[in-house]
Amino acid sequence: MKRMLSAVKPTGQITLGNYIGAISNFVKYQEDNEMIIFIANLHCITVYQDPKDLRKNLKDAAALYLACGLDPNRSTIFLQTDVMEHAQMGYIMACNTYLGELNRMTQFKDKVSKNETGLTAGLYTYPCLMAADILLYDPDYIPVGDDQKQHVELTRDIAIRFNNRYGETFKVPEPLVASVGARIMSLNDPTKKMSKSENNDKGCIYLLDDLNVIRKKIMSAVTDSYGEITLDQQRQPGIYNLLEIHSAISKTDKQELLNRFKSQGYGVLKKEVADVVTERIGEIQKRYHEIMDSGQIETILDEGAKKARYIAAKKLTKVQRKIGIDIHKR
Ligand code: TYM
Repeated sequence: MKRMLSAVKPTGQITLGNYIGAISNFVKYQEDNEMIIFIANLHCITVYQDPKDLRKNLKDAAALYLACGLDPNRSTIFLQTDVMEHAQMGYIMACNTYLGELNRMTQFKDKVSKNETGLTAGLYTYPCLMAADILLYDPDYIPVGDDQKQHVELTRDIAIRFNNRYGETFKVPEPLVASVGARIMSLNDPTKKMSKSENNDKGCIYLLDDLNVIRKKIMSAVTDSYGEITLDQQRQPGIYNLLEIHSAISKTDKQELLNRFKSQGYGVLKKEVADVVTERIGEIQKRYHEIMDSGQIETILDEGAKKARYIAAKKLTKVQRKIGIDIHKR
């Protein structure tokens, strides 16, 4: 059985992009793999968050993991800060990462190039914490959307360097990026990734959006004026994105969808995408409310943290011994 590890950073609400690119895959992979899935709350605060909103978003994220189908009896689910080894290992990883490597991270570079102000040191060193999150658990695969692949590759580089320097310590993990849905684009500007940090909410669907709002967002998705439906992503990014969303959720091959829709108008395609998406999100929301009412979230996260801590503590001890900062005899 392979071990997989991943996380979502609930800065704001969980999006359809998070669901398609990450969470829905975790649910599938838990059938045949050991899954370790956490809520990356330390990663959230790399950008200022209103404490009240953050607390709500964390609880929502846990409830949504469960509502999407993550099963605490199969998967280890926890809150990052409940396992303190992450922060300590994050520091050790930062001491084994070069500035040049961090400077190459496209997510950070994008923010710098947009002249965003108030960028924090935490945001800059965030990939080191992510490397710690991963390497503490020796996973085989890291299921992520396309935008996180670079961070997993940096994690591999850090692990290889550490192993060379100090002797075999970490398993070198591989990113696992699904062939469909790894990069869901904004409905408002299909050349940009669907993201919660977008200025305009029209392009982003949240799992807790009202279903009528979701339908409206899809029906007003930006397309083009060609009046035909093809799978040419360059020429028709909006249409391609709608087919991609449909395909990821309905598990229908895009070519099959194309055959079905190619002689139809854009309105027909949008309506069917809206039907598929609202049906799935409607089911998730129903379970979300049941889980929120059940009062079980804290217990599930506590149990998960206990299991995670057991693995993480052993690894951190080993690492500290390897680098020589531990003088205790054991
Ligand atoms: P985050 O919270 O930005 O995204 C969580 C997951 O959702 C995927 N994703 C998307 N997939 C397809 N289309 C989109 N539009 C889209 N937007 C987001 C992301 O690729 C990701 O898989 N640093 C991570 C969280 C993290 C992590 C980790 C992940 C912290 N530690 C260790 C893996 C392993 C992040 O900010 O993801």
